[in-house]
Amino acid sequence: MLTDLYNALNKKNKSNLPSIKNNISLKPYNTFGMNVKAKRFLAINSAKELQDLIPSEKGPYFILGGGSNMLLTKDVTALVLKNEIKEKKIIRDFKNSVYVAAGGGEDWHQFVLWCINKGLGGIENLSLIPGTLGAAPIQNIGAYGVELKDVFHALEAIHLKTGKLEKFKKADCQFAYRESVFKRKLKGKYFITRVILKLSKSPKINVSYGAIKNTLAEMKIKTPTIKDVSKAVIHIRSTKLPDPTKIGNSGSFFKNPELSARQFTKLQKAKPQIPHYPLPDGRVKVPAGWLIEQAGWKGKRIGDAGCHAKQALVLVNHKNAKGMEILKLAEKIQASVKKRFGVALSREVNVF
Ligand code: EPU
Repeated sequence: MLTDLYNALNKKNKSNLPSIKNNISLKPYNTFGMNVKAKRFLAINSAKELQDLIPSEKGPYFILGGGSNMLLTKDVTALVLKNEIKEKKIIRDFKNSVYVAAGGGEDWHQFVLWCINKGLGGIENLSLIPGTLGAAPIQNIGAYGVELKDVFHALEAIHLKTGKLEKFKKADCQFAYRESVFKRKLKGKYFITRVILKLSKSPKINVSYGAIKNTLAEMKIKTPTIKDVSKAVIHIRSTKLPDPTKIGNSGSFFKNPELSARQFTKLQKAKPQIPHYPLPDGRVKVPAGWLIEQAGWKGKRIGDAGCHAKQALVLVNHKNAKGMEILKLAEKIQASVKKRFGVALSREVNVF
């Protein structure tokens, strides 16, 4: 009897103890495939697990989602917290719209497919983006004319010092092109546990992006559904972008620069054929991929660090490149684009 009680208590205590792994390779956890080590690694399965941990583990922490927007250049000494919080749920259901909650550790693309299968529109253009729900707001993921902010309602996150669960509404997140408050003022301060999006039951199809229109025409689809748009996006992405399970990469390595009208006019005089997108505030966005290609880098490689042959904005790890080698290649590309066009490229990928 007593032994049973002892065993039950012991079992209970054990399950409450976080199982921190020591000295593990992070290679399977980052899409660049960098073989660096984590001194200590812990999977977080719920908000409560993290809140229980914080009083005894003072940090520093290193938060890991899908590892799809990072370049690791060295071993990680901080405690790695891998977001594994799972949840996919409709929390409010109205006539035309629904609010969907998702755990920070959910896979983004699987979530998109889940929504599409339920007929919920708004994120079909964001199909096949690697990464997790928790990471999506940090850089306000975007593709083919849609950004996360367009459907974002709120998120919940734990403050890593106090352990308090806090709610952030859309305005609190200060979203901009591949930017949010979590990349700036609040960088590294919060662990995103839950994201709430507002999706539509009668979605407006957004095929403003030329490539989608062309692909749908090739597919002979005249009145596309959200499923068709998703299929077209999956087709475009898989033909242009390297599959991270086959060749290491983190998608676009740089952001598309947003130039002042004056700087753009000067550039256009020298290069009249430059693709460009006017922004509402008068500035002009130009594709970094085009600048990099014009500077002669497309398809080039230095050792195993390369510039992708089909999309110059993507840097790739051909096999055994080290993080520092990718970073050096990136710096060479930045210097060359600056020299040739006077344009400074800033990184989209986070370097550690
Ligand atoms: N271009 C070139 N050469 C290249 C690459 C692009 O000339 O090697 C030109 C294209 O011809 C086109 C223009 O640049 O005129 C834009 O190219 P693309 O449509 O491929 O998009 P992007 O601007 O290079 C951005 C996002 C992608 C997103 C696509 C589609 C950024 C930093 N990147 O790329 O996002 O999928 O648009 O919307 O904004 C990511 O963030 O990781 C990512 C892949």
